[in-house]
Amino acid sequence: MQLKKISLTSFRNYNKVEVLFDPFLNILLGDNAQGKTNLLESIFYLSGGSSNRTFQDKELIKWEKDSFTISALFETRKGNYNLQILKSLDGKKDIKVNGIEQKGLPQVLKAVVFSPDDLNLVKGAPSLRRNFIDREISQIYSLYGYNLVNYNKILRQRNKLLKLNIDRNKLMKNLEAWNDQLIEYGSFIILKRLEVVKKLAMLSRLIYRRLTDNQENLDVSYYSNLKIDKDFTIDQIKDAYFNTLTKKREEEVKNRTTLLGPHRDDLIISINNKQARNYASQGQQRSCILALKLSIIELIKAQYGEYPLLLLDDVFSELDRKRRDFLIKEIKSSVQTFITSTRENNLNEEIAYPAKNFLIKKGECCPISYGEDNECFGENL
Ligand SMILES: Nc1ncnc2c1ncn2[C@@H]1O[C@H](COP(=O)(O)OP(=O)(O)OP(=O)(O)O)[C@@H](O)[C@H]1O
Ligand SMILES: [Mg+2]
Repeated sequence: MQLKKISLTSFRNYNKVEVLFDPFLNILLGDNAQGKTNLLESIFYLSGGSSNRTFQDKELIKWEKDSFTISALFETRKGNYNLQILKSLDGKKDIKVNGIEQKGLPQVLKAVVFSPDDLNLVKGAPSLRRNFIDREISQIYSLYGYNLVNYNKILRQRNKLLKLNIDRNKLMKNLEAWNDQLIEYGSFIILKRLEVVKKLAMLSRLIYRRLTDNQENLDVSYYSNLKIDKDFTIDQIKDAYFNTLTKKREEEVKNRTTLLGPHRDDLIISINNKQARNYASQGQQRSCILALKLSIIELIKAQYGEYPLLLLDDVFSELDRKRRDFLIKEIKSSVQTFITSTRENNLNEEIAYPAKNFLIKKGECCPISYGEDNECFGENL
């Protein structure tokens, strides 16, 4: 897939900007706090209808303004799309594809982002790993997001109920009424997570071995607090879910919250059979995340027959020479890539491919021919 053009109005620090991208490699250069990450964020938004940095859409609206728009022209194997998203401060969201109003965002553009925030993935809280896997599965299976939203709704209702001071019999009856739906949506989520983690484990193990010159082994597995096996069918998961919920009923009543289900699960990452969360070095964490992200790209390719967009936000400054070289080699010509960097990194000297360069300054974006005598914002580059 290929993003050809993006136009932003009142998005973050951009007033109005239109950018025409290169089909292969785009390098977004600029000093700190000029709008590089904001531009990547707008591309990410096109792929899932939400930001990778905030759950609050209103933060994306330029200060003092009351709405933002993102318009984009892109191409996938299925055809050409002209997508327009308008989001207002009052929460209204208008989406149009080729001029026709849509109920929701069509899940056609896929994007994988790798940013310094991802460096917390290995050692941070389990919720970060769940969010990572949820976001990527949502890109692979369109029904996953729907199940996740419903699961979270049921979970909230069930937790509310557990906090009520009501008669015990009434509580038990009501809990049971919620359990059916909790098990229905929750089991689907677990099944898909198991499926994807199995493939992710295989791919990332291979990439990680190459990254470490066959010296180290990466293992990724899914941990569920229900007693389930990685090869369980949906019915086996439902049975295990039901049985464990029944067993833990008293504990849940005592704790006044739902203790079991995919909202409490985790990804277990090990390097050479040692839990990465406790033992991985900085370099091992970086290699691990790199391997996971590159694996996701392959999973999306396997599912849709084409690579997603790859958004690399300032990661080159986080990686050492060896890992940078590895990443550069992995960026295949069929992956449209967007890299942000400050100018000191001299990315153009490291990357041998032809790239389109842009200079970003104070919420404006200007294409530049690197190394040639040209002027951008009154600067010679
Ligand atoms: N809603 C908003 N309205 C206006 N400006 C905003 C909004 N949200 C963020 N900004 C500003 O946008 C600027 C650019 O942010 P961005 O994260 O894109 O910087 P960057 O170029 O990636 O810098 P760095 O190299 O430090 O990562 C920041 O100064 C930030 O305060
Ligand atoms: Mg940035």
